[in-house]
Amino acid sequence: MAIKEWSKNSLLGIEDLSSDEILFLLDEAQSIKAQKTIDGSITESLRGKRIINLFMEPSTRTRVAFEIAAKSLGADVISIAGEASSLTKGETLKDTAMNVQALGADAIVLRHSSPGSPLFLSKIVNVPIINAGDGAHEHPSQALLDIYTMREKLGNLNGKKITILGDILFSRVARSNLWGLLKLGAEVTLAGPSTLVPKEFEKLGARVTHDPNEALQGADAVMLLRIQHERQQASHFPSLSEYANVFGLGRSTFNQMKNNAIILHPGPLNRGVEIESELADSNRAVILEQVSNGIAVRMAILQLCINCGEIRR
Ligand code: CP
Repeated sequence: MAIKEWSKNSLLGIEDLSSDEILFLLDEAQSIKAQKTIDGSITESLRGKRIINLFMEPSTRTRVAFEIAAKSLGADVISIAGEASSLTKGETLKDTAMNVQALGADAIVLRHSSPGSPLFLSKIVNVPIINAGDGAHEHPSQALLDIYTMREKLGNLNGKKITILGDILFSRVARSNLWGLLKLGAEVTLAGPSTLVPKEFEKLGARVTHDPNEALQGADAVMLLRIQHERQQASHFPSLSEYANVFGLGRSTFNQMKNNAIILHPGPLNRGVEIESELADSNRAVILEQVSNGIAVRMAILQLCINCGEIRR
């Protein structure tokens, strides 16, 4: 039976959530999306709250979606980019967070290159911490909007075949999706070059293959991941064009999937590398719907974490 209430005040990762908590949050996002679509009304459950976006790595989608989500709920939102902050003058993340709390933050949304930094901050400050991506560890709000979009398109994910194709090793999106999809009963295949898709991932419950055709055969959805050059110290394949030839999604590999299969990508996408441009713009791609769904999902995250599960309409 699904839970009736939410008890977490921070969102650090999907690994920490139960399947019931994931479904509860997704249902809340669905209700927010329906409410906005039908009558255009905006719930102001966070009026008077101050949310600080602390982004120590570049972002377009996540930062803007969290800003829109906070404003849509009536909160004040202030975004700080790492390169424009006093971190460049030697201030620590801990001191930055304590100062942000002293300035009246009611929640901190953190993106940082260090895995575990949101957990670290959650032990230092007394306000909710929302993980907006920590190194190659987790990107929970991204996985929740991905799973939301898959459920919207495919229905119940129990038994659905989902393939994640690309740079798995360095991807926080892959890890968060893997936790979430397995908890909801999906069959997850991880695929890509052997240097970027270690067999050890099988221990987490996924199927691992280095053959894209095998990975996509009969799949309901494919999630493509870009090469995370910013986290790699060395090259893991001979060249981008060779990667694209073998692992890039083209029409022939896409045709191995089910007739109604969908294509997801967390963005930013590299056209002509992990996906052919024509497929990225096709009606099988739900990439921009993922981005739009990210607003309702992040509204649900902020509302549930800051109000400790209390839904105010
Ligand atoms: N998917 C994602 O995290 O995109 P941004 O880096 O643009 O936020």
